[in-house]
Amino acid sequence: MLRILAAGLFMISTVQAEEFASSDELKNLVHQDCGSCHGLTLKGGLGPDIRPDTLSHYDAETLTTVVLDGIPGTAMPPWRPLISEGDAKRIAEYLLQGELK
Ligand code: HEC
Repeated sequence: MLRILAAGLFMISTVQAEEFASSDELKNLVHQDCGSCHGLTLKGGLGPDIRPDTLSHYDAETLTTVVLDGIPGTAMPPWRPLISEGDAKRIAEYLLQGELK
């Protein structure tokens, strides 16, 4: 019984660890996937400039919601199906600060 429980816990922790992308993976995602609309350097394209100075009116929480749910009625898509909430929050912080810890 205990062994089954331990195996279960191990699986849960493995799954959670996989949910979080590495900083490099997240940066790639932002510049490639977000960049396909916002420009590789994020200074705008089809989508607007999303560099830190432009986004200063956002707080991290609102920005996380924009990333997860997109902006309905516009070309800005929801990323909830593809990224975890934790990673969306890290992306928001990356966009605000211009660096990823
Ligand atoms: C299919 C194109 C497309 C992709 C891919 C895309 N966006 Fe957008 N995004 C847009 C458009 C278009 C807008 C402007 C919507 C509007 O009219 O308000 C926008 C708006 C935004 C805004 C709000 C900007 C502001 O000044 O209010 C943020 C932040 C943002 N996107 C972040 C991201 C992030 C982060 C990603 C990647 C995870 C991403 N976008 C991927 C098209 C895209």
